[in-house]
Amino acid sequence: MRCPVLHEPNHNPIALPDEAATAAFATSLAKMLRPGLVIYLRGNLGAGKTTLVRALLQALGYDGRVKSPTYTLLERYEVAGLHLRHFDLYRFRDAEEWEGSGFRDEFDGSNICLVEWPEQAAGLLPPADISLTFEILQDGREVLLHAYTPAGQTCLSALPG
Ligand SMILES: Nc1ncnc2c1ncn2[C@@H]1O[C@H](COP(=O)(O)OP(=O)(O)OP(=O)(O)O)[C@@H](O)[C@H]1O
Ligand SMILES: [Mg+2]
Repeated sequence: MRCPVLHEPNHNPIALPDEAATAAFATSLAKMLRPGLVIYLRGNLGAGKTTLVRALLQALGYDGRVKSPTYTLLERYEVAGLHLRHFDLYRFRDAEEWEGSGFRDEFDGSNICLVEWPEQAAGLLPPADISLTFEILQDGREVLLHAYTPAGQTCLSALPG
């Protein structure tokens, strides 16, 4: 799970004082999404991970409901010619569940996989191209960006910050 940081475009966190700020950040990120990216979403309960995914899908033009995959663990979306996979592994328990779930096949180099609570499947999940780490502040949130691969670096290089 731990890999060296290849590039850190943002040493400083990006401030997300409200949900509108999260939506604006998601709009920038949406433009840089490419097939095959694996994005880990880190941060405590309620830190804003699902909010980011919802805003990302909306920025891509998705107008359906975006549910948190709290119980299903995975929700699938097709929008703007992209196949997005939204995982929430908070309730994920063991390796057998991974083998039985077919999750491995979702990381096919074409799907864009956004993974909440990647720590829960450490050693099973493919490595990330990018991680977004959300912190809860007194007012709003902030997010720290890390890229671990050239593809991740390209994605983050065009973001503000
Ligand atoms: N930038 C922001 N500023 C203020 N509030 C926010 C921001 N982003 C999200 N929130 C609020 O935080 C709450 C929890 O957000 P969200 O469900 O996205 O968290 P999460 O990180 O996915 O949590 P979990 O780990 O439980 O899935 C929501 O009520 C949402 O409105
Ligand atoms: Mg969530």
